[in-house]
Parts: sequence; C-alpha cells; structure tokens
Amino acid sequence: MITIDNYDFSGKKALVRVDFNVPLNDQFEITDDTRIKATIPTIQKILSDGGACILMSHLGRPKDGPTEKFSLKHLVPALSLKLGVNVKFADDCIGEEASEKASALKSGEVLLLENLRFYKEETKGDEAFAEKLSKLGDLWVNDAFGTAHRAHASTAIVGKFFTDKVCGKVMQAEIDNAQKVLENAERPFTAIMGGAKISDKILIIEKLLDKVDNLIIGGGMTYTFTKALGGEIGNSLLEADKQDLALEILKKAKEKGVNIVMPLDTLIADSFSNDAKTQVVKRGQIPADWEGLDIGPETAELFAETVRKSKTVLWNGPMGVFEFPTFAKGTNAIAEAVVQATEENNAFSLIGGGDSASAINNAGMGDRVSYVSTGGGALLEYMEGKTLPGVAALS
Ligand code: 3PG
Ligand code: MG
Repeated sequence: MITIDNYDFSGKKALVRVDFNVPLNDQFEITDDTRIKATIPTIQKILSDGGACILMSHLGRPKDGPTEKFSLKHLVPALSLKLGVNVKFADDCIGEEASEKASALKSGEVLLLENLRFYKEETKGDEAFAEKLSKLGDLWVNDAFGTAHRAHASTAIVGKFFTDKVCGKVMQAEIDNAQKVLENAERPFTAIMGGAKISDKILIIEKLLDKVDNLIIGGGMTYTFTKALGGEIGNSLLEADKQDLALEILKKAKEKGVNIVMPLDTLIADSFSNDAKTQVVKRGQIPADWEGLDIGPETAELFAETVRKSKTVLWNGPMGVFEFPTFAKGTNAIAEAVVQATEENNAFSLIGGGDSASAINNAGMGDRVSYVSTGGGALLEYMEGKTLPGVAALS
C-alpha cells in the first residue's frame, strides 16, 4: 500500500475521498468537526508538496438528488479556516462545472465537490459514475475510513481507474490503532461496551472475548442482560429476542476467563426526557413505568476503577442517554476514567467512533485520550475482522 508520506504530490491533482459526513444543526453549522480536523494533515501534506486537492465526500443519506440540507457547501467556511486556504466549491461532483474547476486548479489550491450521494450511482457502486469522477484527478487518495465499510463508487470502485492509489493519513492511523488494540494490547486490557443494542455489538463482543481481561457492559444493552438474568427492568430498552444471546455471552466470557463487569445500580426516570423525575435503584429493581437512562453512581465508580487500572482501553458506546445532561453523568465518568488511565497509568486508549466520539468531545476530553476514531460502523466491522471495501481498493 502506498502511504501519503512516501508519495510526492508535486504538480499532481489528487482526487481525495474524505468522510465529511459531519452533523449539522438547523442553521447548517457543524456540531462536531472531528472528521474535518482529522483530514487536515492529509490535505496539508499534498499542498505542501506542491500538489492540489479535489475533495469528494458524502453527507447524510439524501434520497432524491440535490437537497439544501445535505449540501457540502455548508462546510466550505470551516474547511477554509482550518486550512488557511480559500476552498473552492463545485455545485456538482461530475459534469462541466466540476471538470472546469478541477482543470483550472493550481498547485496549493483545494476544490470541494458537491455531495456524491446526490447521485444514486454513488451508493450503487456504478462504474461509469466512478470513471467520471476519476477524470478529475491524476491519482486517488482514500482517506475516508469512516465510509470504508461501504462498497460505493468513490470508496471502492474509482480506484480501478488509477495507477496510483494512496492511503491517507486518517486511514493509516485508524488501521494502525485498531491493530495495536487487537494484536498488541498491553494488559490489563479493558473493553467498555455501551449503546442501545446487543445486536449491533454482538460480533465485536465475541471477538473481544478472546482478547480482553475485562469487559464492561453498560448503556441500553444492559437491560436485556438484566432481564435475561431474571431482573425487573420496567420500561427500559429491551431486545426480547436477544436474551438467550446475552446469557450465551456471559457463559462464553466465563469459559474464557474474561471478567465481566456489570452495573450495580441504575439512574431511572419516569419518562424519556431531561426533566423527568429520577431516582437511583439497584440493578434489576426498576419499578413498572420507570426506565433506566444511565448507570448509577456506584456503577460509575466501579467501572471507573476498572478502567483506571488498565493499560489498554477500548471504549465503544455511551453508558446512558448522554444527549440529556441529566443522564450524561455515567458517560462523563467513563470519559474521565479513560483520560486518567491514559495520563496517569500510561494506557493506550482508543475511543470507537460514533456516539462515543461525540460523548468524549462533548465532555471536552477528546484531546486527552490516545485516539478518537472517525469511524462508527467502519471501526466495528474492521475490528470484527471483516475486509473493508475501501481498504481493499487501495492494494
Ligand atoms: C458514517 O457516518 O457512518 C459514515 O460516514 C458512513 O455513512 P453511512 O452510514 O450513511 O453509509
Ligand atoms: Mg453509519
């Protein structure tokens, strides 16, 4: 695989697939710029070599062609500011405007193309569409780790039309860090799994049972475990058909000598809202009509203690509904413990994309862990051992 650092971009126009699928609010302001920040070193390397960048990405999941809400033009000011370059924009990712602006591009300049998913051909992995994109640049750089699990035209197919295919810095770092955790973890190795559903995490959990010393289970998926073990969970999230699976995981963990750490208490609410009435109860003792929305304080301390003693920490998924400040305490306590493990115990800490990345950034601690992944589904699939089409396309 050719990496960014051993490629000379001088005089070249690099067609760079980035993952600029960032959250925007109603005023089209970026609410989490992790993914944009992450790609800056890749772009800067190309520019400082004397090359030019044609950036392409998707944003959201537009259904019917061009939509204001999903336009990448909203990213131009933030991107220009971060790069210190006036980023140019093409209203379409293929066609006359895109090719004129791409061919007029001079060394040191950056052009951002409109959302690739305004064409259905993108998600279909259409060859003719990929070929049109390929005409815009001299070589292809794939830096879109977050979209590498999709076999789309710009992530997996476009590479066919280039001799030079280069692995971007984000892509490289993501793979290196995931490998480090999976293959070279210093012990004790603790994985913290949260989030709503067991079904989303089952494959990664099974994989991790062969690797970790401690597996902390928090977040919405806990209630299915608790119910399966005979506890009362009131109105809490439940995947009724996953209870056997939950018991199976616990059994396998025992066989493999993995220490499973489950909540001791739960912060419950009488409705799904930030202003709900709340109380703390023991795990498995949630009254009817109440629901668990966060781990309780005893649990937060138990989890934090386990994390602080670890040398490798992988965290994927929040501990509660952290979008509501009332129910963010558990997630924030974990974020703090991961930072402490990193700073005071010299641990390697990998925060697995998606909600966990937003949670640690919201808590203002994203810079104090070893690495915050830009991938959600992509990181999980990579760690499950799947071949990602976007990575395979680079070799
Ligand atoms: C993501 O945010 O998960 C990636 O950007 C991929 O987007 P997708 O899930 O809509 O394919
Ligand atoms: Mg996704």
